[in-house]
Amino acid sequence: MKVVTSIPELQRLANEARLTGKRVGVVPTMGFLHDGHLSLIRIARQHSDVVITTIFVNPAQFAPNEDFEAYPRDLVRDEKLAEKAGTDLLFVPGVREMYPEGYLTYVDVENITKVLEGKSRPTHFRGVTTVVAKLLNIAKPRVAVFGQKDAQQVAVIRQMVKDLNFDVDIIVGPIIRESDGLALSSRNVYLSPEQRSDALVLSQSLRAGEKMILEGERWPDAIRAAMRDHISTKPSASIDYVSLADAATLEELTTVRPGRQILVSLAVRVGQTRLIDNTLVTVP
Ligand code: PAJ
Repeated sequence: MKVVTSIPELQRLANEARLTGKRVGVVPTMGFLHDGHLSLIRIARQHSDVVITTIFVNPAQFAPNEDFEAYPRDLVRDEKLAEKAGTDLLFVPGVREMYPEGYLTYVDVENITKVLEGKSRPTHFRGVTTVVAKLLNIAKPRVAVFGQKDAQQVAVIRQMVKDLNFDVDIIVGPIIRESDGLALSSRNVYLSPEQRSDALVLSQSLRAGEKMILEGERWPDAIRAAMRDHISTKPSASIDYVSLADAATLEELTTVRPGRQILVSLAVRVGQTRLIDNTLVTVP
C-alpha cells in the first residue's frame, strides 16, 4: 500500500491504473477506521483492481460548534488497518491541499439536505457533497463505496452523482454493528461505559419500530411515539429526531402503506455525543 498526500500524485497514479485497464474503486472516510469502514474497503476490493481509501477529516462538513478539532485521529493505526483490508492507495491530503487559499466552490444538493440530519446540521451536506465531488474528480473511480449507516448521505450523494453526471457507480454497504446492536462509529470512543450502555436505545428502538411496522401498525405517529418513549427511559439520552420517512424522497410519512420502503432513522445525543442509526423496512 502506498500513502499519498498530494492531489497531482493521486491523479497520476489513478490515471495510470485506468490507462492500463484497471478498475479503480474509492472508499471515502474521515479515518479512525473501524470494522464498518473496513467492510466498505473489502466491498471495494471485490469490485475493483485498485482500491483507493481516502482519509480526510473534512472541515467543510463540520459547523463551528461541532467536533472538527476533537474528531478522533490515528493515522498510524489507520494505515495498518486500511492495508490489511485491501487498500492499494491511501490518500491522506492535508486541509490546505483540499482547500487551498482562495478556495471558493461548493456543491449544494437542494431539498433532501434540509430534512433529518440537515435540519440540525444545515451546512453539513454542502461540505460532504463538495468533498466527495472533489474526491470523485481526483480519482475518477469506476465505483465508490458508502455505508448505509449514513442513509441520508447516500441519498444525497446519489442525487449529486445523477444531477452532475458523475460517471461512477455508487455501492452501498450494510451497517456493521457491535454484537449488542450498537452501530460502529468513530464517535463511539467519546462514550463513557455508562453512556455506551445507554446508547443501545438507538438500535433497540429501531428494532421496536420495525417490529410495529411488520406487525401491521399503520400510524407512523404511534411508532415514532413508542420509539421516543423507549429512548426516554435513559436520562443521558436526548432525542434530536425520530423519523419514519419515505426511503426515496426522505419525506416524513403520515401513513404506512403496504409495499412501501420506509427509512426509520434517528439521531440521539448520549451525553455530549450525537449518534445516528437507521433501518430500512419494507411494509408487508
Ligand atoms: P466517515 O464517518 O468516516 O464514514 C466513512 C464511510 O463509512 C461512510 O460511507 C459511512 O457511512 C461508513 N460507515 C460508518 N460507520 C459504518 C458502519 N457502522 N457500518 C457501515 N458503514 C459505516 O461519512 C463520512 O466519513 C464522510 O461524510 C465522508 C463521506 C468521508 C465525506 O467526508
